[in-house]
Amino acid sequence: MSETAVPIILEARQLSRHYSVARGFLRGHATVKALNEVSFRLQPGKTLAVVGESGCGKSTLARQLTLIEQPTSGQLLVDGIDTATATPAQLKAIRPRVQMVFQNPYASLNPRKQVGTMLGEPLLLNTSLSAGEREAAVRDMMQRVGLRPEHYHRYPHMFSGGQRQRIAVARAMMLKPEIVVADEPTSALDVSIQAQILNLFMDLQQELNAAYVFISHNLAVVEHIADDVMVMYFGSTVETGPKSVIFAQPLHPYTRALMSATPAIHHKDRQAKIKLVGELPSPLNPPAGCAFSTRCPYAAERCRSEVPQLRELSGRQIACHRIEEISA
Ligand SMILES: Nc1ncnc2c1ncn2[C@@H]1O[C@H](COP(=O)(O)OP(=O)(O)O)[C@@H](O)[C@H]1O
Ligand SMILES: [Mg+2]
Repeated sequence: MSETAVPIILEARQLSRHYSVARGFLRGHATVKALNEVSFRLQPGKTLAVVGESGCGKSTLARQLTLIEQPTSGQLLVDGIDTATATPAQLKAIRPRVQMVFQNPYASLNPRKQVGTMLGEPLLLNTSLSAGEREAAVRDMMQRVGLRPEHYHRYPHMFSGGQRQRIAVARAMMLKPEIVVADEPTSALDVSIQAQILNLFMDLQQELNAAYVFISHNLAVVEHIADDVMVMYFGSTVETGPKSVIFAQPLHPYTRALMSATPAIHHKDRQAKIKLVGELPSPLNPPAGCAFSTRCPYAAERCRSEVPQLRELSGRQIACHRIEEISA
């Protein structure tokens, strides 16, 4: 490694995930391309925010990053180790270093386990700590996430949504993971609670130096938490770069449409507003050319026939044939 090389804790190279789905009686199978050649590099302690509408492939990406599924093609490197060619022993060592927080804290916690037991489990399975040491570590983490000592013996149903998400965050953090993938971790919560949980994520990142892949469909949340932003549409990255660059001057019509739809950040977008009309195309019947062409006010002939590739422009990467023309 050269002196100037930045450390990369998580790297996706052209990650794709396709699903085979039954079309119906006697109609065979179709392929849903949920994730198409998504790439990024994430440094220790930094946050990549992944943003896009429901159905654009965010959770599919999360399942590849957390090794819940195997990508159809492409590579995933954790601390430089290719997970596809890693030995079983290497994989066993990698898994606890990557943790996930799910959207729904009502479904992700075992209702039959006390909080203390649940939080102690990762330590029981992955460390040789004594029972006393495990309890001390659990109580320490409970305090860090804002749970009270008397919560140790309580069951999940006794908690509100926000407190349950604190428990889920605590569980993800028990092994001091270097990578945490959070899939819309605040979107099932009351608006009044969302900021608290977001701040908890940010405080813990300061304390534990974990890298985050933070998935959200809310750009106001993304602006708060991200270092880098990746905007996804229909399984592909359409624009990605440093948060400061993307928020100061969003270029892709889809990014601009998302920003136009987020009142809290309107003031930043000095370009004409773009109203997002229509719906995501059906994954069973993908459009030719640019996937966004069916909804893009600037779509031209070429956009409907040729798939745009990601390319460097003004400090970010963007996939749009017409970007120079339309932002001139
Ligand atoms: N297991 C699966 N089998 C078939 N299609 C799937 C599967 N998981 C996701 N998809 C499809 O992939 C696309 C992306 O889904 P998802 O990753 O859940 O998006 P998001 O999290 O952004 O809402 C959707 O069209 C969805 O229906
Ligand atoms: Mg999702």
